[in-house]
Amino acid sequence: MKHIVVLNPKGGCGKTTIATHLAVYASTLGLRVAIADHDKQASSHDWLKCRPRRCADIGVIAAYDGEAIAGDYDVIVHDMPASSMSEHMGIASACNKIVIPIMPSPIDIKAAMRLWVKLSNSGWLDDPNIEIGIVANRIKANTRYVKTLEAFIEKIGLPIITTLRDTQNYIRSLDAGLTLFDLPPNRVAADLVQWQPLMEWTGFFDIEDDELLELFGEATGAEPTELVSFEDMQAEQLADEAAAADH
Ligand SMILES: Nc1ncnc2c1ncn2[C@@H]1O[C@H](COP(=O)(O)OP(=O)(O)O)[C@@H](O)[C@H]1O
Ligand SMILES: [Mg+2]
Repeated sequence: MKHIVVLNPKGGCGKTTIATHLAVYASTLGLRVAIADHDKQASSHDWLKCRPRRCADIGVIAAYDGEAIAGDYDVIVHDMPASSMSEHMGIASACNKIVIPIMPSPIDIKAAMRLWVKLSNSGWLDDPNIEIGIVANRIKANTRYVKTLEAFIEKIGLPIITTLRDTQNYIRSLDAGLTLFDLPPNRVAADLVQWQPLMEWTGFFDIEDDELLELFGEATGAEPTELVSFEDMQAEQLADEAAAADH
């Protein structure tokens, strides 16, 4: 059984979105998959409850309720909560792969810095059995902080596996118990192609298969964005805080 964990103590960065997509993709390819939902908010559990019966089958493990991580599965995708990581370090360190979604905003980048310090102290960054990959999520063309995020990730030496654009497609499909992999591929081709590097990185699938590659559409051209230095970012944040204190 293979395990993949999606974590970042920062809320709203895309953990549940990525966990559900990984699960559906693996299930579509014929693997037996469960999502272990570690979040008391039970978002992926709720998502599964409204998933149409005709769609690829996914199991659920209510880990947030103490349910044991077990079952007849090929893959377990761990959807982690937005909370201090300490209580979940054991689970994550037992996983083969760790996906960290990060959004390009000053708050998210700062939270990612703190997470990186934690990962460093835990020894995971030097552990040959643990592979960590970043997903830059909710990327908007011309967002100033995209380059800042990229510079930060380059500095800490972790790979950006892929970037996912900001689109309502995710919000609408998750709301209906679906993922983009459940929709007609031609409607979401620009998004599907962004998932391909992550799917390859998981190592769960034989991605050489031409039929699988047909799932993906044409790559979209990325817009160049302006670089914002950490110093500028911090100055901006301090100015915001000072303005807020004045009110
Ligand atoms: N790439 C994206 N584009 C647009 N909306 C997104 C994207 N990724 C996530 N979202 C939305 O952002 C919100 C938070 O995402 P979620 O996956 O629940 O984060 P987390 O599990 O880390 O709290 C959800 O409403 C989700 O649909
Ligand atoms: Mg979540």
